[in-house]
Amino acid sequence: MGITRGFGVDIGGSGVKGGLVDLEAGALDGERMRIPTPQPSTPEAVAEVVAEIVEKFQWDGPVGITLPCVVKHGVALSAANVDKGWIDCDAQKLFAERLKRKPEDIVVMNDADAAGIAEMSFGAGVGKDGTVVLLTFGTGIGSAVFLDGKLVPNTEFGHLQVDGHDAEKRAAASVKEEKGMSWEEWTPRVTRYINVLEDLIWPDLVIAGGGVSKKAHKWLPLLEVRTEVVAAALKNDAGIVGAAWAAAHGVRP
Ligand code: BGC
Repeated sequence: MGITRGFGVDIGGSGVKGGLVDLEAGALDGERMRIPTPQPSTPEAVAEVVAEIVEKFQWDGPVGITLPCVVKHGVALSAANVDKGWIDCDAQKLFAERLKRKPEDIVVMNDADAAGIAEMSFGAGVGKDGTVVLLTFGTGIGSAVFLDGKLVPNTEFGHLQVDGHDAEKRAAASVKEEKGMSWEEWTPRVTRYINVLEDLIWPDLVIAGGGVSKKAHKWLPLLEVRTEVVAAALKNDAGIVGAAWAAAHGVRP
């Protein structure tokens, strides 16, 4: 029998969310818990919140954890929208110590990569070959690239230079919110961003994720791009599901 339950925690710029995951359905098993991201979002402060969530569910198995950072071999290497203290932090070791687990029972990965794994396994990317790009529109813009279903980890396409700007500073969902932009005002920025991206890697499919994917019907039809763009199926839970799946299966991108 395969592993049927896991636990994932998704660390974002504004909230830390976690919950039990049904690994056969590829969905949350019950309610998720959300705690606002501590400010400043130092590794120690965030690890406390992660521990609070894991303990609340009385979970004692492997834990998958996402960070909005480049992550290699459990070490965070960048920090665009979190405390700079994450840079060069051995996150796997930090969480293993705080959660009283063996390091091999902790998987830490980039948030968009985790969401991508979930979408490819259970959502909009199931059975999709070729070059598939998942983009998450949230505080920043995250990216996950798959070639014939296999992840190319740590792509940072949210930081493409678009018309002299860091792309996520113009087209993230947080920009829409902060500036009070309508869908009609914001979507052309996303069009321009995807145009630059598609000229560089010519994807076969783009999956649009992040909180705004819940309102996909309001903006996907306004996009003017040549690539097929579909809404993520797992919406905001994809990071939790993907991280839990990776931890349960010992997958370390
Ligand atoms: C970070 C990425 C992350 C994305 C979404 C970007 O600013 O550089 O690592 O995946 O935000 O959180």
